[in-house]
Amino acid sequence: MFEDPSKLLLQSIVDYAIYMLDPDGCVTSWNVGAERIKGFKTHEIVGRHFSQFYTDEDRAAGLPQKVLDIARREGKYQGEGWRVRKDGSRFWASVVVDAIKDDDGQLIGFAKITRDMTEQREAELRLEEVREQLFRSQKMEALGQLTGGLAHDFNNLLTAILGASGLAARNLDKPEKLTRMLDGIRNSAQRGASLTRQLLAFARAQPLDIKSIDLKTFLDDVTMLLRPSLRSNIEVVTELGDKLWNVDADAGALELSLLNLAFNARDAMKDGGTLRISATNETLNGKPDGLRGDHVALRVADTGTGMSRETMDRVFEPFFTTKSFGEGTGLGLSQVFGFAKQLGGAVTVESRVGEGASFTIYLPASRHVAATGVEHANGVHGRGRILVVEDDALVAELAAGMLGELGFEPEISHSAKQALELLGSGERPKLIFSDIVMPGGISGIELAEKVRKRFPELPILLTTGYSEDVAGAHGFPVLQKPYELDSLASALAKVLKQELTVD
Ligand SMILES: Nc1ncnc2c1ncn2[C@@H]1O[C@H](COP(=O)(O)OP(=O)(O)OP(=O)(O)O)[C@@H](O)[C@H]1O
Ligand SMILES: [Mg+2]
Repeated sequence: MFEDPSKLLLQSIVDYAIYMLDPDGCVTSWNVGAERIKGFKTHEIVGRHFSQFYTDEDRAAGLPQKVLDIARREGKYQGEGWRVRKDGSRFWASVVVDAIKDDDGQLIGFAKITRDMTEQREAELRLEEVREQLFRSQKMEALGQLTGGLAHDFNNLLTAILGASGLAARNLDKPEKLTRMLDGIRNSAQRGASLTRQLLAFARAQPLDIKSIDLKTFLDDVTMLLRPSLRSNIEVVTELGDKLWNVDADAGALELSLLNLAFNARDAMKDGGTLRISATNETLNGKPDGLRGDHVALRVADTGTGMSRETMDRVFEPFFTTKSFGEGTGLGLSQVFGFAKQLGGAVTVESRVGEGASFTIYLPASRHVAATGVEHANGVHGRGRILVVEDDALVAELAAGMLGELGFEPEISHSAKQALELLGSGERPKLIFSDIVMPGGISGIELAEKVRKRFPELPILLTTGYSEDVAGAHGFPVLQKPYELDSLASALAKVLKQELTVD
């Protein structure tokens, strides 16, 4: 008698357990594969319920019945899960159950195919583990590069600071030299501060402190902060559109983004060029990045080396840098990118080799009423903005340096007229610090009187090198020149009625 060929076929398949169940789920027949995989002899299993192959938990959860129900209803069940061998060991199985019906559509049983996936699963798990290890080691390597680069950067900055302060100490009687040294020190320290912030921003996405920002005053401040860090062969141009909308953003993070873009531009313009910062209102319609509605496009463009398509594709990647070790960490643009995303905006880049580069940050326009300068003045730099009115540029810089030291944000006007214009345009510093004698035009005392009339709340501190002026100051507080950090601090403290410590 010949064996049924299809039965022969089934019997010769050893990698799959193939067996038939009756409509209740009892095993009616099975192949060698089933014997091999599950460990039961045919006579041990035929007639038993297939739930035997399930784990206790799955049986308790009614899984075997669910599998049959699905197969009955939908014609087929497919899934993966743990199954149990005769010896109690478990294996990971891929299972297909087909409902078998007769010509009248009556269910006559189920065909079940089970495949032992344990090896594949283990291989997958191993692969995943290897991947994770690789990822971890790449992260460590990146971190190593980062800390190495940072240590190098900080060392350079510290060298500059130490060198300049040593020289400054020897040139106390030469104000011009001294100012230069101090400027150098301040620049280095600012660069250090921006590095630290970068690092912090990278270490964890800091929650943004979102406020409505008036870009006009904001950009004035940022360009002032920026100027000393750029070489003199770089011209800075700002172009602001009419009636610019306020934007909703975190002032500190926005400032850092602009510094990052500006530093990149500086690095790309070794032989000098123009750094153009512009802002325009734009109502977007899906581009870029699916953005819609009112935005302000803040653009930082340079006339530097530009970059290739390949570089451009990668610029926003963390740690991507074309600069040499210690010169760049490759984090600047990833900060800009992360910031724009976090705000619900976007950043784009356009560039060609030899034709400069242009980065645009799209910031959501403010939903609030336009902010006044006051809110901003106290938002960015701890103690608020102080308007320094001083005709002598060097002295103005020095005063600004000291105010910065005390945690204020200095803003310089070179004449009383300029200061009045600033105030007229809505600028509200926390205090006005003005020289009394300014040749030509309005004196500090006249300025003080005008300010007291128009803005009675605005505190004023005058300063002069001439003792006779003090007598004529009509009740305005006067700080005698030359002053030092301590005396400036205590004069300010008295006027602002707040404590200022100098360390
Ligand atoms: N204005 C630009 N002109 C030309 N290339 C640029 C410009 N801005 C960025 N790039 C390229 O993009 C790369 C990444 O910039 P990113 O600011 O992220 O890092 P970095 O400047 O190299 O280092 P870091 O900002 O951390 O000091 C730069 O190394 C440079 O190759
Ligand atoms: Mg950079």
